[in-house]
Amino acid sequence: MSVDRARLSDLMAHEVARFEAERPQSKVLFDDALTRMPDGVPMLWMAKWPGPWPVYVSRAQGAHFTCVDGIDHVDLCLGDTGAMVGHSPQPTVDAVTQQLAKGITTMLPTEDAAIAAGMLAERFGVPMWQFTLTATDANRAMIRYSRHVTGKKKVLVMDYCYHGSVDETFASLDGTGAVVERRGNIGAPVDPDETTVVVPFNDVAALERAFGEGDIACALIEPAMTNIGIVLPDPGWHEALRALCTDHGAVLIIDETHTVCAGPGGMTLRDNLQPDSVVIGKTIAGGIPAGAYGMTQELQNRVRASIHMEDIDVGGVGGTLAGNALSLAAIRATLGEVLTAEAYPAMIQRATEWTAGVQATIDEFQVPWQVTQLGARAEYSFLPQAPRDGADAANADDFELQQYLHLHALNRGILMTPFHNMALMSPATTAEDVAAHTAHFREAVASLVA
Ligand SMILES: Cc1ncc(COP(=O)(O)O)c(C=O)c1O
Repeated sequence: MSVDRARLSDLMAHEVARFEAERPQSKVLFDDALTRMPDGVPMLWMAKWPGPWPVYVSRAQGAHFTCVDGIDHVDLCLGDTGAMVGHSPQPTVDAVTQQLAKGITTMLPTEDAAIAAGMLAERFGVPMWQFTLTATDANRAMIRYSRHVTGKKKVLVMDYCYHGSVDETFASLDGTGAVVERRGNIGAPVDPDETTVVVPFNDVAALERAFGEGDIACALIEPAMTNIGIVLPDPGWHEALRALCTDHGAVLIIDETHTVCAGPGGMTLRDNLQPDSVVIGKTIAGGIPAGAYGMTQELQNRVRASIHMEDIDVGGVGGTLAGNALSLAAIRATLGEVLTAEAYPAMIQRATEWTAGVQATIDEFQVPWQVTQLGARAEYSFLPQAPRDGADAANADDFELQQYLHLHALNRGILMTPFHNMALMSPATTAEDVAAHTAHFREAVASLVA
């Protein structure tokens, strides 16, 4: 379907007018905030929502939030995975509340630390864990350690990957196959070709060529891409990557920050992957800042043997607030009582319902789009078949169309993940929440083709 742009523009104008009429209190806060924060937001990305100003939240609970204009929303964004366990789950709130009164940060371990590490070890199969405040920082730590123990320089990543604000990962392939800065990269410290090798996802021949150069310290991957639409791995791709890392002495780091939607141990456990290191962040502490990286015993031994106690605080790994008592109490409660193995079947069932609802509209209106599910997460894209790599997925981007669909949903009380067409299910998301999306998505697509 080629979307009629004049019609899309009219539809969008109608949705913008509705948003403006229904969100006056958000506008008041936005106008005030504009005088003290760029774009009126505390973090730049919050300016990229589809309406003329951001929706200001008054309260979030479970799978819903209410804005300052009193409108209830089904939250399918869930803080882009930061709140995948639902907003303010009671066990996390209780544990954090107790810990707040007992000391927040001391730069000394608490009992919770080793318990939380043990929970991660059991889930992901790598035994030795350390903590950070973000997944970004966990990735940075693993890249440093990998370079340190291998004596090699380069990080291998997938074209159109996202692993947080990690310098080495803002690299992509140009039309000639050269490694260049990812579009939009701000203030790169060096040419990414110096630090990074980029290959398309699912391309074993490209992996073989890349490892042939002999300079790769680590491969940093998501086991399925989730930041440029969802791109699932071909059968055999993970095995090929594992074998090449082993043959060439490179560290295989699997970033499960988003793919933990596939199950309690992410895709690592579900698909019996064999990483040297697992990175995770966002949801493990129920939204309290926390990240973590785990290593095999063998890798941990190499790392520990290579660093001297005297220099441990100036090596570029770690941070003052990392591993603080509050984060660890939150991880222990969240993994132990909220994001449990028992919570997953219902979350995945909600995503299956969401996917079926989107597919039914695609079929009814014969639009050349597709929808892909990965556990409790699903995403549609403006492509006739599922993408096989990041470039495939990126080529299907249609920012105007996406903004219309997202604003249409928002005006009907449904928040989609910004930047792409993704929905995530929490333990608190209900079949009614999903059915609301199904009905409104149908209405939006009908408006485009009518
Ligand atoms: C796979 C993956 N890794 C790491 C990150 C970074 O997370 P944070 O911004 O919380 O550091 C993200 C963020 O979207 C991500 O999707």
